[in-house]
Amino acid sequence: MENTQKDGKVRFFSGKEIPLEMHKVRVVQKLNLLPIEERKKAIEEAGFNTFLLQNKDVFLDMLTDSGTNAMSDNQVAAMMVADDSYAGSFSYTKLEKAVADVFNQKYFLPVHQGRAAEHIISQAFVTKGKIVATNYHFTTTKAHIELAGGKVVEIYTDEALKIKSDHPFKGNMDTKKLEDLINSNGASSIAFIRFEAGTNLIGGQPFSMQNMKDVWKISRRHNIKVLMDISLINENLYFIKTREKGYGDKSIREILHEMMSYTDFAYFSGRKVSCTRGGGICTNDKAIYMQMRDLVPLFEGFLTYGGMSVREIEAMAVGLYETLDMNVISHSPQFIKYAVDAFVEKGIPVVTPAGGLGCHLDAGGFIPHVPQTEYPAGALAAAVYIISGVRGMERGTISSVRDENGNDIPADVELLRLAFPRRVFTLSQVKYMEDRVTWLYKNRELVGGLEWVEEPPVLRFFVGKLKAKANWPEKLVKQFRKDFGDSL
Ligand code: F0G
Repeated sequence: MENTQKDGKVRFFSGKEIPLEMHKVRVVQKLNLLPIEERKKAIEEAGFNTFLLQNKDVFLDMLTDSGTNAMSDNQVAAMMVADDSYAGSFSYTKLEKAVADVFNQKYFLPVHQGRAAEHIISQAFVTKGKIVATNYHFTTTKAHIELAGGKVVEIYTDEALKIKSDHPFKGNMDTKKLEDLINSNGASSIAFIRFEAGTNLIGGQPFSMQNMKDVWKISRRHNIKVLMDISLINENLYFIKTREKGYGDKSIREILHEMMSYTDFAYFSGRKVSCTRGGGICTNDKAIYMQMRDLVPLFEGFLTYGGMSVREIEAMAVGLYETLDMNVISHSPQFIKYAVDAFVEKGIPVVTPAGGLGCHLDAGGFIPHVPQTEYPAGALAAAVYIISGVRGMERGTISSVRDENGNDIPADVELLRLAFPRRVFTLSQVKYMEDRVTWLYKNRELVGGLEWVEEPPVLRFFVGKLKAKANWPEKLVKQFRKDFGDSL
């Protein structure tokens, strides 16, 4: 049955806005909360890089929402009846049907995860010197477009990079900039326009249906293809339904089908959208499908599995249908909003309005005494782990690169992303995170900067190692013990 409340929220007598889990937990995994001294040791051994922590040393893993979401009982049950065959698997037929029903797309190509779709699409549609115009890049997307010889041009609005904003659709494209780009370069220089739903790197921010419609019109006038990255479509759907005029009374299916009518083709990371592991590309255009079809057996696997296990394919088919359930897609944004509102209330700098994917602390505003040359977002990620066991992801200058003279290119914003894997954490765990971050904010002057010990030349944020300047973690541990006694 469809959830009849427009915003998916259950009202409370107290008038308080409390996100309510519309599921119960039936399988659990034990967590470890190490004493702070051991957490300090673990982050030192990990070179102050949260990617290098061992999960056994992590209490709440908020590194990413990718491949870490909870599956439903129906998804797990479906995995038990998987039809294991190299070609013509019945499990695949179910997935193809789910893509047709849920996304309203006729042709489907399975791949092993989102970036594999980006690889196939870039190889098929991007040639040397071609431009991909996008609302904002994603790391792997950009890498694949550039690998194929193309160039990414971002055409976000002025609102997109503001930390504090009340704009409901920070993920919108600037249509004027898009027209200018087309006019100055010529339509034929543009490989395609890429719309990323729930725009990841600017804080899980959505675009509006109106913006899609406007971009679609421009694309038809100039005969340019539109591609949509629907990895984070769940939350974008939720925000269109709850924030955009005229969509409150529409079903999620209607909204999704309308969105899909403004794109020529789309791809997704199943690690996000269906709470599984895998991905896919879909379209209603046979010519587009044919341009990519033969690359799938070459890079991924035969057309009826695309590098995925049949068990994941079964779970994905069920997971895609669950995208149409307001109870499912409202869970994560409501929890994120709860955390963001709590931080805003305490004056803790955080990206607003609350988006999907996670809660993004503004490290620049949190520890302004740490200069960008000493990596405030990385330092904050390490400090949050030390005082709470919560693992977030640095999204600042460490995730950036150096210029040709070897100087750091400072990131536009220094963010610490605390991702909310879907249906994984309880409200008390979120409150715990919020409580510890609040304590850290009160003691923020104790947090210092970082410097490199081992800096890889490419994608340094994944495996690079750093150390703390002036032994600030020691001071943090001392203050923690003073305030929390023998608490973990
Ligand atoms: N598109 C978006 C919007 C993503 O967020 C991701 C992955 C991908 C594509 C690539 O998909 O990981 O399945 O290959 N985002 C992850 C994250 C890695 O942590 O935000 P993938």
